[in-house]
Amino acid sequence: MFPRVLAVSDLHADRTWFAWTIRHATRFDLICIGGDVCDVFAREDPDQQRAAVKRWLVRLVASGVPVALAEGNHDDRPHRWLEGAAGLDSLLLAGFSGTVCAGGSQMLLTICPDTSVEGIAADRVVEGLLSEAAAKRAREPMPWMVLHHEPPDGTPICCGAEGNRSLADAVTRHQPDLVVTAHIHESPFRKDRGGRWHAWIGSTLLVNSGQMPDRPWPCHFRIADNDITWRALGQPRETVPIR
Ligand SMILES: [Fe+2]
Ligand SMILES: [Fe+2]
Repeated sequence: MFPRVLAVSDLHADRTWFAWTIRHATRFDLICIGGDVCDVFAREDPDQQRAAVKRWLVRLVASGVPVALAEGNHDDRPHRWLEGAAGLDSLLLAGFSGTVCAGGSQMLLTICPDTSVEGIAADRVVEGLLSEAAAKRAREPMPWMVLHHEPPDGTPICCGAEGNRSLADAVTRHQPDLVVTAHIHESPFRKDRGGRWHAWIGSTLLVNSGQMPDRPWPCHFRIADNDITWRALGQPRETVPIR
C-alpha cells in the first residue's frame, strides 16, 4: 500500500504554487516534485529563481515530510546546483533509488535525472536505476514509484509531443507500479486528440498531471492507499487504482 503522497510538477517558479505546496505539505507522508521548478523562459534572473527555489525547498523540507525532486529540462543548468545546499541534506534528488519509509510503511522510490538535455548518458542512468530497483522489489515486495520528468513516448500522457523512448522500454521491461511524469503540460486537456492524464504500459500506471498557468493552485495528484486522484482546476476529479 502506498503512503499518502502529494505529487506536483511544472511549477515553473510560480510563487503562488510554491506557497500552496508548503501549506498542504503536512497533510501528506511524502511530497514528490516532478521537475521544472525553474523557468528558463521567464524574465526573472535565473540566479534569483534558483535562490527562491532553494528557500521554498528549505521550508518544504522543514515541514518534516520527506521531499523528492526530479530534474526537469528547465532545472538542470548548472548541473546539480541543489546538491549540498544548506538546509537540504534530506532532500531526495535525481539518482536516488531505494527504500523510503513514509507514513509508517515502506515503498521503493526511484528519482530520475532529466533526459531531454543529458541525452543518452542519462537514459543509461535511468535504465540502471530501474534495473536495480526491480531486483530489490523481487527480493522484497513493496510498492514502487518512479519519478521521471518526461513521459514515456507513444503514450496518451504525452499526446502530440515526443516522449522518452528509452523510458518506455525500461518501463516495459521492469514494470514499476507507478510512473509519475510531467513536462507535456497540455496532454491531460487534449482529450479531442487522445490525450489523457493516465495510461498503462502492461501493469504499470503512468500519470502526468499537466499544467495550467495562472491558477491559484497547481494541477497535482493525491495518492492514498492504492488510489491516485487527479486534481486540475475546472476539471472533474478523477481517481484510478494504481494496482
Ligand atoms: Fe514544464
Ligand atoms: Fe519540462
